[in-house]
Amino acid sequence: MILIREASEVFLPDGVATHASVLIEDGRIRDIGRQVTARGAEVIDARGKTLLPGWVDSHTHVVFAGSREFELDLKLQGATYREIAARGGGIGYTVQQTRRVSEERLQAEAELRLDAMLAHGTTTAEVKSGYGLDTKSEVKMLRTVRHLNERHPVDLVPTFMGAHAIPPGVDREDYVRLVREEMIPRVAEEQLAVFCDVFCEEGYFSVEESRAILQAGREHGLTPRVHADELSDSGGAELAAELKAASADHLLMASPRGLKKMARAGVPAVLLPAVPFSLMQKRYAPARKMLELGLDVALATDLNPNCWTENMQFVIQLACFAMGMTPREAIHGATLGGARVLGLEREVGSIEVGKKADLLLVNAPSHLFVPYHFGVNLVETVIKDGVVVCGG
Ligand code: NIG
Ligand code: FE
Repeated sequence: MILIREASEVFLPDGVATHASVLIEDGRIRDIGRQVTARGAEVIDARGKTLLPGWVDSHTHVVFAGSREFELDLKLQGATYREIAARGGGIGYTVQQTRRVSEERLQAEAELRLDAMLAHGTTTAEVKSGYGLDTKSEVKMLRTVRHLNERHPVDLVPTFMGAHAIPPGVDREDYVRLVREEMIPRVAEEQLAVFCDVFCEEGYFSVEESRAILQAGREHGLTPRVHADELSDSGGAELAAELKAASADHLLMASPRGLKKMARAGVPAVLLPAVPFSLMQKRYAPARKMLELGLDVALATDLNPNCWTENMQFVIQLACFAMGMTPREAIHGATLGGARVLGLEREVGSIEVGKKADLLLVNAPSHLFVPYHFGVNLVETVIKDGVVVCGG
């Protein structure tokens, strides 16, 4: 048993409790309130600090080999994402690196990032394949996720994303067929993924190709998600609505019509503001408009070699400063919002009796400080499944 005593604020789904304590037993939240005590419990003094749910980072590509720091100079010279890809950078570059390394090496590189994620408060994360782009390498990536999930405190939810790009030298029709007829059945057979994701974008996969791939995934038990309207309005939001996908992600360029369809279909938006930041763009996703339409808005890092941050606090800061979200909306999007996208809202994402004790004690007198006091790691103690795994 752990008693987190007298936090200046406890962040609850519908408000905050001040000067409140939280009791943890058997890895779960047992009690919340001002009067909570427990004889024999280990006590964590939370005075002056805020207790938050662990971050649920619902969109990452944390498994990859190598890095692409050379792209920074190209970006500074004004090159776009597509231009960098055409010059030998981008997804293709990371695919070369990822194919080349052993599973052990891939695991070791990703593990360092998971350590950093945990230290910054992420307790659950989704992870996509998509830097293999052949059956063997896609399976290698997803097995890496499985092994990491077994040995690392951060809970991982795997997504198959063979449709991340068309590999060089491969005919697109042949590749779509390979994804549908070979990769998806193989991934399903080995139970390597929960979701199937597609980069629906001009130059990557068309709406028709994306639909065909996501339907094949669904037939094999994989729930669809969509990288939608990141670089142009390519119909991704509409497709996600049509398929009642678990989410549509990015949505920088989504049309108002697409967003309305998502709202009607109840498809959540996953916003990734570190992406326009890393691409040095002025335009961010229209979060306020989405919230007005009644969309559920989740926030995630998109951690990948183009957008390398393990830090959900930074994402929350960008959501407030660049997209106009309130601190509560942003923290909600980084916790319960992400948990809903992953179908884990009954287990994680909020501080409620009965839920898993995935909790963060942050060095802040209220949740407002999470965006307000930026550029440092405010997370002091991370509790995962009722165990102190960082700080404390
Ligand atoms: O979510 N947009 C497509 N895929 C990733 C970027 C992958 C990469 O550049 O390596 C994303 O932004
Ligand atoms: Fe992504």
